[in-house]
Amino acid sequence: MARRKILVTGGTDGIGLELVRRLADRHDVIATGRRPRGQVAASLPEDVIYLQADQSAPEEAAQAIVRGLLEHNQSRLDHAILNAGTGYAVAPQTETAEAIRRTLDVNVVSAIALAHALFPFLERAEGQLTFIGSVAARRGSSRFSSYAASKAALDGLARALGAEWRGTVRVQVLHPGPTRTAIHAKAGLELGWIERFFLPPETMAAMLETAIQRGRSPETLSLRRYLAGGSMFGSRIQ
Ligand SMILES: NC(=O)c1ccc[n+]([C@@H]2O[C@H](COP(=O)([O-])OP(=O)(O)OC[C@H]3O[C@@H](n4cnc5c(N)ncnc54)[C@H](OP(=O)(O)O)[C@@H]3O)[C@@H](O)[C@H]2O)c1
Repeated sequence: MARRKILVTGGTDGIGLELVRRLADRHDVIATGRRPRGQVAASLPEDVIYLQADQSAPEEAAQAIVRGLLEHNQSRLDHAILNAGTGYAVAPQTETAEAIRRTLDVNVVSAIALAHALFPFLERAEGQLTFIGSVAARRGSSRFSSYAASKAALDGLARALGAEWRGTVRVQVLHPGPTRTAIHAKAGLELGWIERFFLPPETMAAMLETAIQRGRSPETLSLRRYLAGGSMFGSRIQ
């Protein structure tokens, strides 16, 4: 099995952190996140390169990630998994302009800026770019209308870039279903008992790795997929 160079944004918590942990013993992993290294280093595997980049400032974040890659002598990437995401749980008519903008900046504008900035790194390796969307892109999500809009945007972005970059960089979008991470609490939503029916982030990370290895797009990674053996019989990135 070849050792791959894999970048994961939002690699400091939830699904992204679990992806980083499962990939790090077999691949060279670069994790990015908004927090300073001192706050996240203890939870990351030892050999992982960490780059701080706050994606609420999309262009600066993309520049910081490119600079960080070059400083670590990384000129090629086999995979870039654009996973960082955020949202605010509010009734649509009361959502502030600032919250709307932040959701779109982190989830969409930053994904676009990073896709453009990382293209040369991926092109050199004939690599693959994966956007992490959400089932909210299709189904909507109560009190998360801007979040749902941002994930639908990623779906369109992946289709367009996939056509533009055919033959150079493969592009896919994966839409996870409800997963037991802190994203809901960070958004100001208390889930209560329903959270028991959400998949654990380790399981979602396993399902995502299988879907990334397969390369199909778009793909939905739901509880139904899990019950059909989606994490038990999965393949690993090779
Ligand atoms: N959990 C679900 O039910 C679910 C369902 C469908 C799709 N998703 C998607 O899956 C992805 C991962 O979500 P998760 O559930 O694992 O959430 P999470 O546990 O909150 O992790 C999100 C990651 O994104 C980072 N992030 C947030 N804002 C950022 C910013 N401004 N700049 C840079 N990084 C930032 C977080 O950093 P910190 O560690 O500093 O917070 C964290 O590393 C997201 O794209 C989310 O939309 C989640």
